[in-house]
Amino acid sequence: MSQTETVYLDGNYIQKNEAKLSILDRGFLFGDGVYELIPVYNQHIFYIDYHLKRLKSSLDLINIDSSTIDDMQIIDIIKELISKNNYINHYIYIHISRGVDTTRNHIYSKSCKPTVLIMGENYTPFTKQDIKKGKSAITEDDYRWLKSNIKSTSLLANVLIKNKAYNEKAYEAILIRDGYLTEGSASNVFIVNGNVIKTPSLSNKLLPGITRKFLTDLIKKHNLEFSECEISKDDLYESDEIFCSSSTNPVVPIIQLDTKVISKEAGPVSMKLYQHAQSFIKEF
Ligand code: PDD
Repeated sequence: MSQTETVYLDGNYIQKNEAKLSILDRGFLFGDGVYELIPVYNQHIFYIDYHLKRLKSSLDLINIDSSTIDDMQIIDIIKELISKNNYINHYIYIHISRGVDTTRNHIYSKSCKPTVLIMGENYTPFTKQDIKKGKSAITEDDYRWLKSNIKSTSLLANVLIKNKAYNEKAYEAILIRDGYLTEGSASNVFIVNGNVIKTPSLSNKLLPGITRKFLTDLIKKHNLEFSECEISKDDLYESDEIFCSSSTNPVVPIIQLDTKVISKEAGPVSMKLYQHAQSFIKEF
């Protein structure tokens, strides 16, 4: 992180290291807020309409009036940050909390005005060699709440689970609820059986990933076989390929799940989809 980077906070463009929030901000006190992570490729904002739609859905689901969010204004702010910080390939975070309250109380004041933070973060995506080599993952009980379709900043369970994976030298923790795959701690999960790419259907148990949408668009465009269905823990172990998707790395092949070796390296279908995603992004 550059200390001289500019971020947007509640109407002002300020230096990242000078941006401060009130101790009574409900985002800090209760994790009472939502967020988006939006890639910028070649200075263009990726799948922005879908990200804004999901942001508004998250806001509505936590009873913050999404009609106060003006799409064009958000897009203009992101463009301004791209220009001010000279972002070429970057990631933009939009964090919206319910706002600063008068006291610390579970019951929020109707008068709370949402706090809006928009800032860039830099991640280096995996190289093609990393992708070809593949990563390992562990499975974990999905003990999160049953509103995982909300992109909430209340991420304690995800944080604990991701750190468990990290401490076990795994890239991701793949979550199982009642014997079935939901998603990863910070990604959606796909499997490949023969030539069929499968992923769980959307529900309250997983985030409607924008990369998931991007990949299903590519799957359709390239006439690959696809199914949205229930995937059991055994299906995962017995699959030919597994990969995770997220805005930071659209396709991450998983070659080992717990102690089970899935394949020696990334499988052909995952690599094909990875290549299609890379070509699309390069042209974007
Ligand atoms: N997380 N599921 C969870 C729980 C996630 O946190 C993410 C992304 C995804 C994939 O969503 P998308 O394709 O829209 O990035 C699925 C990002 C990387 C984050 O929180 O920083």
